[in-house]
Parts: sequence; C-alpha cells; structure tokens
Amino acid sequence: MKDPANPENGSLDDWQLAIRVVAMPADTNAYGDIFGGWIMSQADIAGSTIAIQLAQGRVATVAVKEFRFLAPVLVGDLTELFARLERTGNTSISVEVDVWAQGEPDPGSRRHVAHAVFVYVAVDADGRPRQLAQPATITT
Ligand SMILES: CC(C)(COP(=O)(O)OP(=O)(O)OC[C@H]1O[C@@H](n2cnc3c(N)ncnc32)[C@H](O)[C@@H]1OP(=O)(O)O)[C@@H](O)C(=O)NCCC(=O)NCCS
Repeated sequence: MKDPANPENGSLDDWQLAIRVVAMPADTNAYGDIFGGWIMSQADIAGSTIAIQLAQGRVATVAVKEFRFLAPVLVGDLTELFARLERTGNTSISVEVDVWAQGEPDPGSRRHVAHAVFVYVAVDADGRPRQLAQPATITT
C-alpha cells in the first residue's frame, strides 16, 4: 500500500494525520507490549475526526468492520494514526484507519502496525441517527 506519511498523498480527501502519540508504559499488556485495546481506542478516536468533520457534529461508533494488528507497538514508540473517508451512506460514515509506529531515535524502524475500518453514525442531540448533508463533504 502507499505510504500515508508521504506529503504528496496528503490532500483532505486522502489520508490525514489524525493523531501522533507516544506509547507509554501504562498502556502495556502482561507481556510488556502495548495493549491492543489502547491501539483500538486511539484508532476509534482517529477515525472519528473524519466522521465529525463530515457529519458536522455528533457521531457514534456503530461498528468496527475490520481490525488487523500487523506488528506489535512497543513502549516509547511514536505512534501515528492516519484516517481517510471510505464511504458515506444516509447517516453512516465509514473511515479507514492506518497505524504506524516508530522507535526513537531510529526513524528506520517505522512499521505499519495496524489497519482498521470503523463505521460511525451521525446522531442528533438525543442520540438518534441523523441524515448527512448531501453530498457530504469534508470541511475544515
Ligand atoms: C449508532 C446508533 C444511534 C444507530 O442507531 P440504529 O437505530 O441502530 O441505526 P440504523 O439501524 O438505522 O443504522 C444507522 C446506519 O448505520 C449503519 N449500520 C448499522 N449497523 C451497522 C454495521 N454493523 N455495520 C455497518 N453499518 C452499520 C446502517 O447501515 C445505517 O447506515 P445508513 O443510514 O448510511 O444507511 C445506535 O445503534 C446506538 O446508539 N448504538 C450505540 C453507539 C455507541 O454507544 N457507540 C460507542 C460509543 S461512541
């Protein structure tokens, strides 16, 4: 797959850097690697940034269509989460998320560590599905 960190691939309709965060010791599992649940949580937040922009308001995560862990994340890794719109429906927004991790101070260690697809639903103040504006477009 193409590298989302390449600025040439970085338009609003393509991969966007949503989160950069250092993986901390508090986020490890029993074996000392970063807990998958922490990565899933970060990925959900990263994907929601696209959904919130598109929905122009509140969204709820309705489904995780795919989540693949490709390589472990280690304590101290600079973790980068990229997100891009996959598709929009009447009320739903599917977002693809890629997670990359890099040890310090070795940029050559950059690894593609996870890939996911989340589905969000635009909701109103009462938490009920809300129609997306058509055509749905990203605004910043
Ligand atoms: C999200 C929620 C408001 C949706 O309400 P709902 O009555 O189930 O909505 P619908 O069945 O009409 O589905 C709404 C949209 O989600 C899509 N959807 C529902 N389940 C889906 C699934 N498993 N996979 C993919 N899309 C799904 C539907 O296709 C529909 O899309 P469309 O309007 O673009 O055609 C409701 O399910 C809810 O509150 N869930 C809990 C959300 C939550 O707490 N998330 C975690 C914290 S954010």
